[in-house]
Amino acid sequence: MGSNNLVPTDTLVKELGLQKHPEGGYFVETDRQSAQVLSPFANNEPRSLGTSIYYLLTKDSPNGVIHMNKSVTYHVLHQGRAEYTLIHPTDPPKVEKHIMGTNVSAGESRLLLVGTGVWKMSRLLPEDTEYGCLITEVVVPGFHWEDHQFLTKGGFDELLKAATGETKEKLKLLENH
Ligand code: GUN
Repeated sequence: MGSNNLVPTDTLVKELGLQKHPEGGYFVETDRQSAQVLSPFANNEPRSLGTSIYYLLTKDSPNGVIHMNKSVTYHVLHQGRAEYTLIHPTDPPKVEKHIMGTNVSAGESRLLLVGTGVWKMSRLLPEDTEYGCLITEVVVPGFHWEDHQFLTKGGFDELLKAATGETKEKLKLLENH
C-alpha cells in the first residue's frame, strides 16, 4: 500500500464489521466498560464508565443528522476529512464549524471534543467522498440511548427563534438537514 495508506470505504466496512447507523454513516461499538459510574450529566443515573465506536462517513452515506448526547464525546481521526457543525444551546445559541483533518496549518484538527448537551452534525465535504472519514468516538460516561436526542423540527425552530444576527443565517442553512 506504500506511503499512501488510505483504505477504500467498502474495505473498512468489511474489515471493521461496520453497520448502518440510524444517524447516517456506519459504526460498530468497539468497547463498553462494564464498570459503572453515576453520570453527572444524566441526573446521577448509572452508566458505563465509557464506550467507544468506530464511525465512518462514506460516499453513499455522507451526512449525519443533528443530534446531541448528555455525555462528552472525544472524536479522534483515523482517515479522511469531515466537517462538524456544533450548535451550542446557549442564550443566544452559537454555531461553530470544525474540520477534522490533518492540515493543522489550515485549522484542521485530528481531535474534536464535544461537551455535554451540544447539538452536533457531521458531513463529508464533496471533495472527500472517495476515502470517506473514519474516526473513533469515545463517549464518557458511556453511550446510552436515554442520553441521546435527535433535533426535532420544534427544537430547531426554538434555536432559530433564540438566535441572533449571523447565527440565525447559519442556522437557516442547516434547516433541511
Ligand atoms: N448505538 C447506537 N448508536 C451508538 C453510538 O453512537 N454509540 C454507541 N456506543 N452505541 C450506539
